[in-house]
Amino acid sequence: MSLRLGDTAPDFTQESSDGAINFYEFLGSSWGILFSHPADYTPVCTTELGYTAKLQDEFARRGVKAIALSVDDAESHKGWISDINETQNTAVNFPILADKDRKVSALYGFIHPNASATLTVRSLLIIDPDKKVRLIITYPASTGRNFNEILRVVDSLQLTDTHKVATPANWQHGDDVVIVPSLKDEDEIRQRFPKGYTAVKPYLRLTPQPE
Ligand code: BEZ
Repeated sequence: MSLRLGDTAPDFTQESSDGAINFYEFLGSSWGILFSHPADYTPVCTTELGYTAKLQDEFARRGVKAIALSVDDAESHKGWISDINETQNTAVNFPILADKDRKVSALYGFIHPNASATLTVRSLLIIDPDKKVRLIITYPASTGRNFNEILRVVDSLQLTDTHKVATPANWQHGDDVVIVPSLKDEDEIRQRFPKGYTAVKPYLRLTPQPE
């Protein structure tokens, strides 16, 4: 199945390093990050999962739950987690789905046959509390993902949902943001953005980042 932005993330129940998990129950009303990696006991994946564990507080602050996936089994995941904790100086505190039967990989399109017939690619989805897919990225197996960028996208999405703003190129938390083009009502704009805005063009209106 090929998922696209705005689609509902499919539910599933699958084994994991923490026992059987139902995805929707696991997510509850949180945001979710579901990410696949090619295999356990591989160097790039070891650094990715270690770094994700270190971001636990950042995810929690944003109401985000992380869950990883590969086609290795739960016993393999548990052994590998010990290695990750030891080598990355952290404690993996999120489950790794054991997708040995490739059920979830098929649902989410995590196997790209022309890249590898058997291993999952390095994909990542951000899923919002309504279970809608808000970001999909896929990286080559040899390139570790930038999880600070994932946090930046979560921040941007949450600002959009709460404040009707979008974030410009290379935006970082605290920078000016853009008022979404669909917001035209001047009264609402004044109410939403009491610090005012600068209209560089009628369609490009910058305002300080709302809290
Ligand atoms: C890794 O995770 O280190 C890796 C996996 C597949 C190909 C290359 C690197």
